[in-house]
Amino acid sequence: MNNSAKLRIAIQKSGRLSEDSLQLIKECGISFKNGIGALKAEATNFPMEFLLLRDDDIPGYVADGVADIGIVGENVLAEKQSHVVIAHKLGFSKCRLSIAVPKNESYEDVRQLEGKRIATSYPKILANFLQSNGVRADIHEISGSVEIAPGIGLADAVCDIVSSGSTLFINGLKEVEPIFYSEAVLIRRPEISEEQTALLNQLLFRIRSVQAARNNKYILLNAPESKVEVIKSLIPGMKSPSILPLAEPGWVSMHSVINENDFWEVIEKLQAEGAQGILVVPIEKMIV
Ligand code: PRP
Ligand code: ZN
Repeated sequence: MNNSAKLRIAIQKSGRLSEDSLQLIKECGISFKNGIGALKAEATNFPMEFLLLRDDDIPGYVADGVADIGIVGENVLAEKQSHVVIAHKLGFSKCRLSIAVPKNESYEDVRQLEGKRIATSYPKILANFLQSNGVRADIHEISGSVEIAPGIGLADAVCDIVSSGSTLFINGLKEVEPIFYSEAVLIRRPEISEEQTALLNQLLFRIRSVQAARNNKYILLNAPESKVEVIKSLIPGMKSPSILPLAEPGWVSMHSVINENDFWEVIEKLQAEGAQGILVVPIEKMIV
């Protein structure tokens, strides 16, 4: 492999995606010099350079080749319509783009938006939505602090990102029409070199291992020998559970992996089958 090959990754400088993006990179075992206060940072143990940018600019920079890959919300991606490819969904920074109106206004359906002024930073996604619903409204594109627009008389409604909902709440608005669901994705330039593709595959392998580990837990329990078969069917694990004899005759210790989503349901069944001393511990990496 060409030694000079490296991946330049664009990450949001500050905002909803920054912390989770950096956390993911860290869990992939990639560290960088002098923290990440500057606009640019070099990884110390992976051929990677970080560019810290405004999220709205990331698809454009990746498409233009300033960065090779980037982490960005699907909302920004859909709005910018840049020439990039989604390499992997990341599962964090989940949010929705929604239309919201002042909270004491009654809202029945989308036809009510006819002729209204709607402030947004997502004019394209909003225009698509309105068009497919046959509604004509006046779209006011503003780049930030959209939520204050109705309060200062600039608009009748907004179309903005909602995550916890607290921004809307604080500004006396209520969500009436979710129009687009989004999460963070890893994007790449369509044409990257063979060396960079190999590096990207290494990175994706690490990301998948981190994601698998987050979705699974290691489980240990004690069970009467007579229950081994039924418990095995409840916690089949990656291949099959490990079974070790306990010092007490007639009892074994069983170790396996359990999915976070099935967790509580399975625990109840295990208890019903006589499992005792159940321990559940986080997994740091899981190679699948
Ligand atoms: C969005 C949106 C709100 C906030 C909503 O901004 O504009 O300010 O998040 O979150 P909440 O429902 O949890 O209060 P975003 O993070 O996309 O930042 P940006 O507009 O600066 O890119
Ligand atoms: Zn933004």
